[in-house]
Amino acid sequence: METKDYSKYFMPNMQDARKRINRYTNVYKFTLDEEYKKLGQNRFYYIKTYGCQGNNADSEKIAGILEAMGYQETAEIEKANVLLLNTCAIRENAEMRVFGELGRLKGLKVKNKDLLIGVCGCMPQEENVVKTLYEKFPYVDLVFGTHNIHKLPQYLRDAYFSQDRVIEVYSQEGDIVEEIPMKREHQVKAWVNIMYGCDEFCTYCIVPYTRGKERSRRPEDIISEVKELIDLGYQEVTLLGQNVNAYGKDFVDIEYTFADLLADLNKLPISRIRFTTSHPRDLDDRTIEVMSRGGNIMPHLHLPVQSGSNTVLKRMNRKYTKEEYVEKVKKLKQAVPGISITTDIIVGFPGETNEDFEKTLELVKECEFEGAFTFIFSPREGTPASRYEDSTPMEEKKKRLYRLNEIVNEGYLKGNKRFEGEVVEVLVEGKSDKNPNLLTGYTPHNKLVNFIGDEFLIGKIVKVKIDKAFTWHLRGKIVS
Ligand code: 5AD
Ligand code: SF4
Repeated sequence: METKDYSKYFMPNMQDARKRINRYTNVYKFTLDEEYKKLGQNRFYYIKTYGCQGNNADSEKIAGILEAMGYQETAEIEKANVLLLNTCAIRENAEMRVFGELGRLKGLKVKNKDLLIGVCGCMPQEENVVKTLYEKFPYVDLVFGTHNIHKLPQYLRDAYFSQDRVIEVYSQEGDIVEEIPMKREHQVKAWVNIMYGCDEFCTYCIVPYTRGKERSRRPEDIISEVKELIDLGYQEVTLLGQNVNAYGKDFVDIEYTFADLLADLNKLPISRIRFTTSHPRDLDDRTIEVMSRGGNIMPHLHLPVQSGSNTVLKRMNRKYTKEEYVEKVKKLKQAVPGISITTDIIVGFPGETNEDFEKTLELVKECEFEGAFTFIFSPREGTPASRYEDSTPMEEKKKRLYRLNEIVNEGYLKGNKRFEGEVVEVLVEGKSDKNPNLLTGYTPHNKLVNFIGDEFLIGKIVKVKIDKAFTWHLRGKIVS
């Protein structure tokens, strides 16, 4: 790539992103200046979201801001005046999908000169990505990162009225901006961010660089958001954070932890509370105790283990051993009888031997996971593990993933089978994509259920008797 002068842009930098400056997080409220309120009139937007629930929640904010500016959503990409790709950087294939999509969008730009194409989310937090976007995708008009969504109105104005492209990515997190309008994707369940960023620095992971340091939202702001959702008729909230168990550790004026938050939300009249993602080291006894109170706290926990080998865990900087993990799982199962535990696993981490891998398989059996997201290690530029020596061929890694998935899938099926013949409560989310005669929803244990029922049940919690369990879902008949 030829050298370009980027000095007029705000470019990201991984070294700065790694720094953790211990300053107090300011909280301020989002406002939209009058000058932006008509910018979107008679214009349409289309957002494509990649990656985790954190990105889904961000897209809801982006959509909320755009609608406050007068834009309307369109499901037809050709009709859009603003097209945003909210991207994920967690693995290389996530990035390749975005570059592929951008390639396809070139044609749209030729047809519609008024179209603004923007790339936001985690990928622009990487300097090499911004350079690639600049040099290879000249039709991308707007690039911004995860720390400055609230400045979107200004970026759009600049993109319309300046001849240059708008590139503004901050390497370090800013303040917490409250009251950004949200256009929520669902009417039944909602995502609620409780914190931003991650301070764990697992050696394979790019998130601490793309999302910045841990910053917790004030409890009163979270509680009032949940109360608002209750007033709007929401039945379920999922509390979001990269490591929810670290919630509150950054408060300097109050002592208030994740367990406190969960206990406070447990008292509110919302039917279901879930949370993700948990870190095994930070999941403490108090949180387990609050989970054991049940009520609206759902008996499912996603607890990423990553590997069953202590050597690998150490090189991943996960800060717990396999034995400590198993101990936590035991405690959870005692405290919350019947709890369903799911996990994340990486195979083929640099230096993972066959023996290490066998230990992962043993752990999966021992913990009886009822589901797992499994990945082949993907080196992320700038992270420590991307520099570790890695001599295992990809073919071998694929074989490991295949073997792991076979065992994981047995766990899915076994986890579903235990509900055959049982009556379960299903929060009805909508019609099944595959068969419009079927309704679909989740049980407290986060099992997907399909059953025949009328549309008016959407949004309600109904009782369903399960007749058959499959690997990925349950099938049943409504009993009430
Ligand atoms: N390669 C493969 N998987 C990764 N994950 C995070 N970073 C990487 C990487 N570089 C996985 C972890 C994490 C999940 C969200 O993605 O399992 O828990
Ligand atoms: Fe990444 Fe580890 Fe933070 Fe999860 S806890 S986001 S895997 S660094």
